[in-house]
Amino acid sequence: MSIKKDLSIEYLGVKCENPFFLSSSPVGSNYEMVAKAYEEGWGGVFYKTVGIFVADECSPRFDHNKKEGTPWLGFKNMEQISDKPTELNFENMYKLKRDFPDKIMVSSIMGSTNEEWDALAKMSEQAGADLIECNFSCPQMTSHAMGSDVGTNVELVRGYSQAVSRATKLPVIAKMTPNITTMEIPAIAAIEGGAKGISAINTIKSITNIDYENMTAMPVVNGKSSISGYSGAAVKPIALRFVAQMLQNEQLKNVPMSGIGGIETWSDALEFMLLGCRNVQVTTSVMQYGYRIVEDMSSGLMHWMDEHGFNCLDDFIGLALGNIIPAEDLNRDFKILPEFHNDKCVGCGRCYVSCYDAAHQAIDWDPINRRPILNDNCVGCHLCLNVCPVVGAITPGEVKWKSGRPQINIAMKHKYE
Ligand SMILES: Cc1cc2nc3c(=O)[nH]c(=O)nc-3n(C[C@H](O)[C@H](O)[C@H](O)COP(=O)(O)O)c2cc1C
Ligand code: SF4
Ligand code: SF4
Repeated sequence: MSIKKDLSIEYLGVKCENPFFLSSSPVGSNYEMVAKAYEEGWGGVFYKTVGIFVADECSPRFDHNKKEGTPWLGFKNMEQISDKPTELNFENMYKLKRDFPDKIMVSSIMGSTNEEWDALAKMSEQAGADLIECNFSCPQMTSHAMGSDVGTNVELVRGYSQAVSRATKLPVIAKMTPNITTMEIPAIAAIEGGAKGISAINTIKSITNIDYENMTAMPVVNGKSSISGYSGAAVKPIALRFVAQMLQNEQLKNVPMSGIGGIETWSDALEFMLLGCRNVQVTTSVMQYGYRIVEDMSSGLMHWMDEHGFNCLDDFIGLALGNIIPAEDLNRDFKILPEFHNDKCVGCGRCYVSCYDAAHQAIDWDPINRRPILNDNCVGCHLCLNVCPVVGAITPGEVKWKSGRPQINIAMKHKYE
């Protein structure tokens, strides 16, 4: 029997039927696409960024990284903002809001002067958008007056946030660039300028692969390529880190946060929510699998909520944030030895090889039974557990206290998938 739970959430004063939104990109760039996404269950759409500047794109413009047959670990794009006429984009937004009044339309905009930001904000409001997102973060703009260069410049972020906030009564969201060490600094500037929400992350400047046929990077455009934006599963850890650091900042801790980067499944989305995100956005996995993944996201999250006794999203948003602490505050008084389960072990020897060649030579190998045997060198690093291909063949086992250290009850992870 399918489980039903309330996934609705208030985000920047707007009631959303669920937290799952398409992020601004080609997956939401015309009427038909957004209509289909709404119909398939997405709560809202950050429409493909609209500027006064209309992009002139290169071809090809995509590449991906893979490992051991798994494609799309990370995805590179060399695309700019919308290549459609500005008026047409706002007309599409207007029609979408008219035809789907309960779905959320976020107008993503990018200007190159205060006047352009002002005009784009006004056009967004006239088009009936519920929210405005300022794109301060596209790393592949051909003009340096726009894009991620803007997102690293505190004065421009503050000034443009101010220009947009003055031009509209709609809540304004600033979309941040990860091409920076400390995202909190421009994020605070955006809030000072009048933005009410923050979204992160946009894509990361990257070179995915070098093509030794043409002696350039991928994708190859007439024998050349460019450094450009990286997204997808590979960037989730980086996105989570930026989101956590912003939400732990005194000046940002109450700012509604939208999490973006590598979300493919309900559990990826949940991870952003456990850090405090009230909204999550997705592009790359939709490019790979289509809009339908939102069904799995919704039902997976509902099942998880049911198992854990949560009735609404606010019951668990932010629960993990306080447990992410500085390295110097971690308890270093104990080690957890790995426990080997011979009944599950398939004798592949990967734990033995990794421990010998990259850890502490703490595993002896039983060549007759083809099984690992732990010796006294173990430091409890859990490299073996990380390389083992069989779920449950190695689990966290005995806790050993360092000599003279206080012994307390510790929380540890038991379930690995
Ligand atoms: C092909 C492509 C085009 C994109 N275009 C835009 C854009 O116009 N505006 C924007 O704010 N972000 C743009 N993005 C960034 C995404 O909205 C998102 O922030 C990023 O891809 C990380 O999320 P993901 O890992 O789910 O893709 C684009 C991403 C891709 C892959
Ligand atoms: S926990 Fe680390 S040191 Fe101990 S057996 Fe595993 S890999 Fe070796
Ligand atoms: S890596 Fe896992 S399956 Fe392979 S030998 Fe070690 S315990 Fe057994």
